[in-house]
Amino acid sequence: MEKIIIFDTTLRDGEQAPGASLTSEQKLEIAYQLENLGVDFIEAGFPIASPDDFKAVDMVSRNIKKSGVCGLARCLKKDIEAASNSLKKAKFPRIHIFLATSKIHLEYKFKKAEVEILEIAKKSVKFARNLCDNIEFSPEDATRSDREFLFRVIETAISQGAKTINIPDTVGYTYPLEVQSLITDIINNVPNINKAVLSIHCHDDLGMAVANSLSAVLSGVRQVHCTMNGIGERAGNASLEELVMAVKTRKDVFKNMNISINTKEIFKTSLLVSNLTGFVIPPNKAIVGKNAFAHEAGIHQDAMLKKSSTYEIMNPKDVGISKSKIVLGKHSGRHALVKRIEKLGIKLADNRINKIFEQFKQLADKKKEVFDDDLIALVEEETSPKVKTYELITVRATTGTDIVPDASVKIRYEKKIIEAKSTGDGPVDACYKAIDKITKIKTKLLAYKLDAITGGKDAQGRVRVEVRVKGKIYSGRGSSTDILESSVKAYLDALNRIK
Ligand code: KIV
Ligand code: ZN
Repeated sequence: MEKIIIFDTTLRDGEQAPGASLTSEQKLEIAYQLENLGVDFIEAGFPIASPDDFKAVDMVSRNIKKSGVCGLARCLKKDIEAASNSLKKAKFPRIHIFLATSKIHLEYKFKKAEVEILEIAKKSVKFARNLCDNIEFSPEDATRSDREFLFRVIETAISQGAKTINIPDTVGYTYPLEVQSLITDIINNVPNINKAVLSIHCHDDLGMAVANSLSAVLSGVRQVHCTMNGIGERAGNASLEELVMAVKTRKDVFKNMNISINTKEIFKTSLLVSNLTGFVIPPNKAIVGKNAFAHEAGIHQDAMLKKSSTYEIMNPKDVGISKSKIVLGKHSGRHALVKRIEKLGIKLADNRINKIFEQFKQLADKKKEVFDDDLIALVEEETSPKVKTYELITVRATTGTDIVPDASVKIRYEKKIIEAKSTGDGPVDACYKAIDKITKIKTKLLAYKLDAITGGKDAQGRVRVEVRVKGKIYSGRGSSTDILESSVKAYLDALNRIK
């Protein structure tokens, strides 16, 4: 088996993402989790960048013993020394030095000629190599560099002792076929390339970071740089979870390749990084997004319930997610609804299922997702008195801080539709008074309770009321995405129970 080294740069390039800044303590917390995940190297920071970055690399070095720890440095003595000092306590230290090689960087950033760059690379790797055994060298903006010049820089870095040569697609410009030709050319044109491990570092500006990294692996690269959740400069870096799961899922393509990641720790790590950086994971994010293993379409749900591999290429348990989610929404079918109701321990006859399914579809049109508690409320409503003396047709109310609330309620009573209007202390009071005008029943409202059944702005409101009529107490309940409607339904439900 050929090992693919996972070089995680969440704490360095990931933290460079605008707004993602982490304290050294938070970095250590993430580093512990990256170690549990099984990454081979943790790039913990850019020690010269700030005292806190230095502290972070130092703290990670002191505490992480299974993964290697790496610090970034430019080709400057002070950077390399800072990196070396911050890594003193690391069990497996590595200094990662970088130097731009593309024409545009040489001309505008450095104002230096190619020969000068070659000399800087030579001296810096030599200097770093005297301080640390394990040197990684990155020709920054490699994918936009002149190939002949790039070969010479790489050869020079290896001749001075660099053990890993990392090829950065710094601006996320390349595409998979080009990566393949670049890596093949490096392998064929750098005479001492067999003395170093080839690595790839891709950014996601065109959304191709993972595809480019995988193409590099297929072309002979044996280390990949990546970050958890794909965070990083601008559009981010290649995402660790996507890379790892692609290699593991497509064993037919990545033959004989081995990655020592405990994939069951992926979801936990992703959540930790998201919580500490404050970067919310989009619902459709591959592998770790909340919809990655969720199914709403009726046809998909039906097939999933028969055999999960019909619509799932990975087992959610393999990435640390307990199970796939069947999301009940407007696209869901009867089969999924019946299964869920059964799972809730509710047994319903076929004719009642039909009714509930109809109501479920109406509710799903108003709500994005129908949760278990919504279903329980539907079933509860369905079990309220079969013969409804009073049935709500419509309700309308006007309210505000500077007007007297008024309401108009239309209900069906003995096949007649009757409408009444009233004002009240609030819109609910106005509705109840309007209903009293229709029913002519003398009631006393003893209790009124409104709860949100589930979370979110589109949650259903459930109202429970208790009314006293002629000395007897009747309770009623009603639910709807409109709280006025649930209030009226609950009141009528209580009145319908009067014997
Ligand atoms: O994107 C890049 O070029 C980098 C280097 C420091 C490797 O992050
Ligand atoms: Zn980068």
